[in-house]
Amino acid sequence: MIYHICGRRRSLHVDHPSGIQGPEIGCGTNLPDIYALLRPALRRLPAEAARGLTLHALELGFGRFLVDRRSREPDPSILGQRLWGLHFPNPIGLAAGYDKDGRVPEAMRRLGFGFVEIGTVTPRPQRGNPKPRVFPLEEDQAIVNRMGFNNSGLDALVARLSQRPRTGIVGVNLGKNRDSSDAAADYVEGVRRAAKLADYLVVNVSSPNTPGLRDLQRRSALASLLRPLVEARDESGGRVPLLVKIAPDLTPAEREDVASVVLDARIDGLIVSNTTIDRPAGLVSANAKETGGLSGRPLFAASTALLAEMHRLIRGKMPLIGVGGVTDAADAYEKIRAGASLVQLYTALVFAGPHLVTRIKTGLASLLSADGFASVADAVGTGQDRTAAKPNRSANRASQANATT
Ligand SMILES: Cc1cc2nc3c(=O)[nH]c(=O)nc-3n(C[C@H](O)[C@H](O)[C@H](O)COP(=O)(O)O)c2cc1C
Repeated sequence: MIYHICGRRRSLHVDHPSGIQGPEIGCGTNLPDIYALLRPALRRLPAEAARGLTLHALELGFGRFLVDRRSREPDPSILGQRLWGLHFPNPIGLAAGYDKDGRVPEAMRRLGFGFVEIGTVTPRPQRGNPKPRVFPLEEDQAIVNRMGFNNSGLDALVARLSQRPRTGIVGVNLGKNRDSSDAAADYVEGVRRAAKLADYLVVNVSSPNTPGLRDLQRRSALASLLRPLVEARDESGGRVPLLVKIAPDLTPAEREDVASVVLDARIDGLIVSNTTIDRPAGLVSANAKETGGLSGRPLFAASTALLAEMHRLIRGKMPLIGVGGVTDAADAYEKIRAGASLVQLYTALVFAGPHLVTRIKTGLASLLSADGFASVADAVGTGQDRTAAKPNRSANRASQANATT
């Protein structure tokens, strides 16, 4: 039996080992934010060690102490959606890179995510770049990383996925080994081996930390890469959705090329976007000068502008997943209004902790209702003009505050 000390009211809530919720002793729905209590200690560790520790804690089942009961409640129906034949209970997903080896997808679902993307996985295990390779930019609410696809390889991931209960939606993000001379063969192997175990697959051609990887986004390279991948997917029996994840640093011409190639290749969706090699003006953290991909708040504007553009170029022919700099419900809503059917995040979770997921879902449901939308799907792409004209985020935040108080 486990006693949680509840929030400011200093009362007790009792969880029984059977999983049945015990009596509440004068308790509201909120546990103290344990992550907020742990974060000062985690901040003293190197960023990658802190991630390793939280992953391990989640593997051991400690995730249940990190969130309150609201995260276990069913999602409001306004957030539900059917895409690619899958029912997404809510549109907020965990982006690739946190759970590279598929160790904790179920624990992440229990934190409230509507779907979880694992990977990037490469055919063979690889160590990635030398450490340190993850650099927090505290003042900018951002991270620079140059991990370089460190992962345990397809064998380990496939073994884990084969064991998992098919509860939540799990996507597998595929990459190539750094020393591979045949990129297409690496991705084909990923598709063949993961197709039956994943709910969707992602062709990651946009990480900045594997030399030459992003060149695969160029028109002819992308077309020749996607052809055998679609064939391998079709030969795998089922028709697992195949998505492509792109970089925010594409030139206008490259964006048009990507749109026309993915439409021709019968790709099922786009993920917009990966980290950026750009360093937007205004970054203040010393770590901004580190080499690697920038994620978090400073990525929001560029990745959302690209999302809006891809939505226009794709003309509603495939769903888009918006990712980059989402820190609150207003950001998630803005991604949806720019054209995203689903939204992912990673960096904000590191700074804000797992309560963020429930907070975003609650706020998003309020924002949708306040604007008269009956569902997420109704709101997708409805803010195109506003996004193109640089949205007023402070106005958005004010409307969210009104909607949630
Ligand atoms: C430490 C770290 C590792 C990442 N690793 C991957 C990866 O392996 N594959 C991938 O497609 N994206 C990876 N990403 C990018 C994220 O999936 C996401 O696209 C990006 O961080 C933008 O979202 P955010 O601002 O919410 O973090 C990584 C991001 C971070 C911060």
